[in-house]
Amino acid sequence: MRPVVIAANWKMHTTPADAGELAATIAARTRIEAPVERVICPPFVCLAAVRDALSGTGVAVGAQNVHHELGGAYTGEISAPMLAGLASWVIVGHSERRRDAGETDELIGRKLRRAVEAGLRPIVCVGEQLDEREAGRAEAVVRGQVHGILTAFGDATIGDVAADLGESGVVIAYEPVWAIGTGRNATGADAAAMADTIRAAIAATGLVDLGAAVPVLYGGSVTAANIGEFLAEPGIDGALVGGASLKPDEMAGIVARAGLTAAARAGGAG
Ligand code: 13P
Repeated sequence: MRPVVIAANWKMHTTPADAGELAATIAARTRIEAPVERVICPPFVCLAAVRDALSGTGVAVGAQNVHHELGGAYTGEISAPMLAGLASWVIVGHSERRRDAGETDELIGRKLRRAVEAGLRPIVCVGEQLDEREAGRAEAVVRGQVHGILTAFGDATIGDVAADLGESGVVIAYEPVWAIGTGRNATGADAAAMADTIRAAIAATGLVDLGAAVPVLYGGSVTAANIGEFLAEPGIDGALVGGASLKPDEMAGIVARAGLTAAARAGGAG
């Protein structure tokens, strides 16, 4: 059974002075019995404060990015080994980094390998632009992203890729770019259709077991009010939340709703 995951992407918000308190508040407001994996991804400089604040809460810490090399002359960058002891998850390939830092599928695949090698649980982001959806190419674009990322990841043989990725606890986040920060979310049905596409694309690279087992999250203007539409879809396993993840009330509502799904799925009720 796939886990239900709610991950908070704080993007370029909070400071080391205030991030710990916000994280602790969210942890307290999202404490539930049901098995929902909660992750908070603050800016790099806030990782230590958030780690300390979340100690003993069951909420994991994630980074928002990682470099594709282990070390060297890369001014301003952070490598996977540097995250040891600070984060157990990492987001790779967010569309804002594709947009602002020119990240390509090839680079994202290399980042993914660094994350897996370092024992970090990756959240790999994919998603189409508005013009691509309007042109009827959304599924082809996302299929291409999955293929490109996994191809770059797998400089090694497919067999090794299956072992590494399958054991990494990798999660895919489907984040249509036009839904990010716009207040305009995808429909549950569209997200579920894309989750099927993503799983099929993974299986098509030869990673058949991973295609079935990988959790797929939806991201893009998720709120406490609309999370139910996504979690009602059996193929959607949680959310990557941006703006609403900075608001404890919203996170409380989102995780509470995720708890209903986790409990129902654990009980075999779908
Ligand atoms: P919003 O929830 O603010 O639309 O952001 C989504 C996102 O990019 C999460 O990674």
